[in-house]
Amino acid sequence: MGDTTAVSSLSRVLLPLLLHITILAAAAPLDPQQLLALRALGLGPHSRADPCTAVAAAAAAVSASCDAGAPFRRVTSLALTNCSDTTSVSAAALEALAPSLRALAFADCPAAPPRALPPEQLASGLRSFSCTASLRRLPAVWLSHLANLTELTVANTPLATSGSPTELAVVVSHMDHLARLTISNANLSGFLPHHWHCPNLTHLDLSGNRITGAIPDTLTLLAGITHLNLSSNVLNGPIPNSIGDLISLTTLDLSNNTLSGAIPETVSTLPELEVLDLGSNHLNGSIPMFLAEMRSLRELNLENNDFDGMVPFSAKFLSRLRVFRAAGNSKLCYNRSVLSAEVAVGVAPCDKYGFPVLPPPATARSERSADYDDGGGDGEGDAGADTRGGPSATVLGVAIGLSCLAFLVILLVCLCKVCRR
Ligand SMILES: *[C@@H]1O[C@H](CO)[C@@H](O)[C@H](O)[C@H]1NC(C)=O
Ligand SMILES: *[C@@H]1O[C@H](CO)[C@@H](O)[C@H](O)[C@H]1NC(C)=O
Ligand SMILES: *[C@@H]1O[C@H](CO)[C@@H](O)[C@H](O)[C@H]1NC(C)=O
Ligand SMILES: *[C@@H]1O[C@H](CO)[C@@H](O)[C@H](O)[C@H]1NC(C)=O
Ligand SMILES: *[C@@H]1O[C@H](CO)[C@@H](O)[C@H](O)[C@H]1NC(C)=O
Ligand SMILES: *[C@@H]1O[C@H](CO)[C@@H](O)[C@H](O)[C@H]1NC(C)=O
Ligand SMILES: *[C@@H]1O[C@H](CO)[C@@H](O)[C@H](O)[C@H]1NC(C)=O
Ligand SMILES: *[C@@H]1O[C@H](CO)[C@@H](O)[C@H](O)[C@H]1NC(C)=O
Repeated sequence: MGDTTAVSSLSRVLLPLLLHITILAAAAPLDPQQLLALRALGLGPHSRADPCTAVAAAAAAVSASCDAGAPFRRVTSLALTNCSDTTSVSAAALEALAPSLRALAFADCPAAPPRALPPEQLASGLRSFSCTASLRRLPAVWLSHLANLTELTVANTPLATSGSPTELAVVVSHMDHLARLTISNANLSGFLPHHWHCPNLTHLDLSGNRITGAIPDTLTLLAGITHLNLSSNVLNGPIPNSIGDLISLTTLDLSNNTLSGAIPETVSTLPELEVLDLGSNHLNGSIPMFLAEMRSLRELNLENNDFDGMVPFSAKFLSRLRVFRAAGNSKLCYNRSVLSAEVAVGVAPCDKYGFPVLPPPATARSERSADYDDGGGDGEGDAGADTRGGPSATVLGVAIGLSCLAFLVILLVCLCKVCRR
């Protein structure tokens, strides 16, 4: 009897206590320091006490996820979107968030960039950093301290650099754990690094910068890379043979540079390659036949280069591709008994010697059709030719118009002479 009262009174005390503890554990309040930091970064004063669970609002948004710590929960990931330009990323705010923050993202957030270097806890703790059209100008030095990142994205944001030609190498020199690196449209100049220390890198996007010089042979150090985008820079020299060592590549975009020379044969050893974009360079030689043997290939862009000879592909191969572009290669042509103008858009047909049929002289329409008929009449004839040659078609039209006018004038003159008689 006495025992049961003791147990029940004990449970009367313990149960509420336990309940209290579980409630605390389920919804411990956010660390007050960190809450202050979030407010400094633009969290509205009237938003709920727990921003960890707050759903991102429509306009300016601070969204956070938090751990389940006790007595206080702490912010592990933070995204600032569409913030006002009076926001600033203060050293104090970063200091408060540093112990727990693993991911930090800014998007459309024209806040003033951090002035001091990142606090040490942030530098070692942060795994993911992303800055898209944000922070006005992001100091490259600040970035370079984030040594433990696995993901780094800087897009549509100019980097404030020292202008050193090895700037990129300096920024990533301590980031051994990177898996994804994007520095795109960031006004980055200088050369590509000769040494990479990121064995786990799979995505590298440096598009839309002002990177110059050759693509180093040492690119082969990026053994596990699947996506490589170096488009819209000012890279020159040849595509290195070592590109063939990157056997996991699925996407290779080197378009809109000033690369020269031929497509290296080693490209044929990339079994997974799906997208090959070499458009808008100064590449030359013939288009290699082996491309047709690449089973995974879905997009092939060779436009605006200096390729010559005959397009070596069958209609069957081209029909398998989502994208095929080869226009803007003035010495390139296609065999009319193999391909039609619809698939070889913008490429001239070959004459019987395998050279492109020259743009037809405006007056000799009959001569042109004679030339075209050499490959066997598959009937896609003049309509195809006219859609193909946009500018020359206009020239032709104008010429015909002018000749008609001249003819009319002559006719009128003759008529007048006849009348006067
Ligand atoms: C950004 O904020 C403006 C108002 O400040 C709002 O009109 C706009 O819809 C917001 N954009 C997004 C993507 O949330
Ligand atoms: C990276 O993170 C690991 C694990 O958290 C830590 O031990 C290491 O010190 C960090 N490295 C740097 C350079 O901060
Ligand atoms: C690369 O990834 C593996 C597996 O995720 C991991 O064990 C290893 O530590 C990583 N290496 C580096 C340098 O981060
Ligand atoms: C890009 O960099 C150059 C110098 O390297 C500088 O003059 C220019 O102002 C930068 N542009 C932007 C938008 O920051
Ligand atoms: C490479 O980057 C550019 C610009 O950022 C983008 O337009 C293009 O789609 C990318 N290429 C591939 C193959 O994803
Ligand atoms: C090609 O690169 C130049 C700068 O190098 C850029 O201004 C232009 O927009 C790029 N073109 C395309 C189609 O991306
Ligand atoms: C291709 O261009 C390089 C110079 O960039 C030149 O040395 C080479 O002879 C050219 N090859 C062909 C087949 O035109
Ligand atoms: C075009 O292809 C046909 C059929 O394959 C072939 O007989 C002909 O020689 C080719 N034309 C040229 C100019 O190589």
